[in-house]
Amino acid sequence: MKKILVLLCALLTLLSIGCRSTGSKETESTHTDSAALDLAHSIQSPADFADKHILVAFFSRTGENFEVGFIEKGNTHIIAEQIAELTRADQIFEIKTVAPYPVDYQEMTKLAKEEQAANARPALATRVEDMDSYDIVYLGYPIWYQDLPMPVYTFLESYDFAGKTIIPFCTGSGNAMTGKEADIPLFAKGAAMRTGFGIQGKLVHSNPVQAKQEVADWLVSLGYTN
Ligand SMILES: Cc1cc2nc3c(=O)[nH]c(=O)nc-3n(C[C@H](O)[C@H](O)[C@H](O)COP(=O)(O)O)c2cc1C
Repeated sequence: MKKILVLLCALLTLLSIGCRSTGSKETESTHTDSAALDLAHSIQSPADFADKHILVAFFSRTGENFEVGFIEKGNTHIIAEQIAELTRADQIFEIKTVAPYPVDYQEMTKLAKEEQAANARPALATRVEDMDSYDIVYLGYPIWYQDLPMPVYTFLESYDFAGKTIIPFCTGSGNAMTGKEADIPLFAKGAAMRTGFGIQGKLVHSNPVQAKQEVADWLVSLGYTN
């Protein structure tokens, strides 16, 4: 009888430890959830973005691309649209070159290497006519050889960025920025910068819903809330 009582006590102690540990896991997960943006609910801009005008400008390429085959909408283009929607941007703008880039991936890589080696500034076919009216510019691009594509430098050198804040974002074969974005103010004269965001292009293509949540989680770091 004594043995049975001892066994019962041990069993009860184990059960109570088990309950406590499940409870603490729930608390952790609740904490994580509260930091993420719930995309099913409206999103509030950070206080310092109130009354600011937002432009989302991006460069992106269609055609045969790394790890995704032939695509009709570029990976960066998809992220640009998500950022424009989530931040309720005033305008989304595509940086386009006068000479279109090759559809073929190998031809594209050859040309990108040549342009980078020449520090080229490819002519742009599109221009933001009302750039003066924007305070915040989310700037998106694919990583090309660990750098920004050369037409993005043409874009940065085409405007006066005094008083504006550039917030970069990129897609690449990995899921991070390369560090080159730190030099953006050297080309975009007068621009202030905020910490940007990098995401894997393949993920954007295969799972745009997950990509959008990752964009939203990054927006939290800029001060966006539900
Ligand atoms: C010419 C070229 C060079 C690239 N170089 C890199 C690179 O150095 N690092 C990287 O992570 N991805 C690199 N990539 C992969 C692209 O950054 C990636 O596929 C990106 O998501 C493409 O975006 P887009 O569809 O908006 O053009 C390169 C792609 C191309 C076409």
